Amino acid sequence: MITKCLFPVAGYGTRFLPATKAQPKEMLPIVTKPLIQYGVEEASDAGMRNIAFVTGRGKRAIEDHFDVTYELEDQISGTSKESQLDCIRELIDRCTFSYTRQTHMRGLGDAILTGETLIGNQPFGVILADDLCVGEPDSVMAQLLRVHEKYGCSVIAVEEVDPGDTDKYGIVSGQPLEDGLMRVEHMVEKPSPQEAPSNLAVIGRYILTPDIFDILRNTPAGKNGEVQLTDALHTQAKNGKVIACRFRGRRFDCGSVEGFVQATNFFFQRHQTAA
Ligand code: G1P
Repeated sequence: MITKCLFPVAGYGTRFLPATKAQPKEMLPIVTKPLIQYGVEEASDAGMRNIAFVTGRGKRAIEDHFDVTYELEDQISGTSKESQLDCIRELIDRCTFSYTRQTHMRGLGDAILTGETLIGNQPFGVILADDLCVGEPDSVMAQLLRVHEKYGCSVIAVEEVDPGDTDKYGIVSGQPLEDGLMRVEHMVEKPSPQEAPSNLAVIGRYILTPDIFDILRNTPAGKNGEVQLTDALHTQAKNGKVIACRFRGRRFDCGSVEGFVQATNFFFQRHQTAA
């Protein structure tokens, strides 16, 4: 049973400036919910109810979002607007939230290692909220969880990307295992299309076994001078301990303006249908 999910949320979101000058990119709304809420809902639906944030300066709005807002709630109590808060209230009731800060921007691997204090010695989920996923029929995290329950090792979500885009992702290659699954042998962070071992890209959903923390401690800075989670996973993969899952569903890259707009259109359609 995996109960904890880690959210690295310290990044700046420079691609959305000036919108992210004074607010976290994770709080930008996709229709009526902030991006981060979709990720937390996905974790909670997969049974991961202990939510751990690795946060940074300027991210206070995330903490406030996952808390009661007395004045506002009192103000709209008994009005038709109250029901708009139902989903976030239920989420707050179901989950616990804890926070630690990453003081220096040393990469995703460093962010995960910073979260060790909140996770301890147990397998855990990781969600990069920028990747907004709509799983079919169930969420991407729930799909990874089933694989972890069967094989007991780290599991990562992958999808095929345009071969010209390999330099935006961690890229994996390995041996087929069963339908939709691959035992990973090689992982490389953001290779050029010429160097890439495949066009299978890691997307922001992981289940990690806790030995990853010791591996990260011993992983030197890699691509862009940052400690890369991909490099630490490659170390696990050399021992056959990483499985890639070609998830069923759709991913929106909400770290880019184009993906953000596509997600907005998709969820707006849903919103209209539900209304
Ligand atoms: C991170 C990871 C990369 C992964 C990507 C998924 O990169 O380092 O391996 O493919 O997330 O979104 P970032 O997008 O933070 O540069």
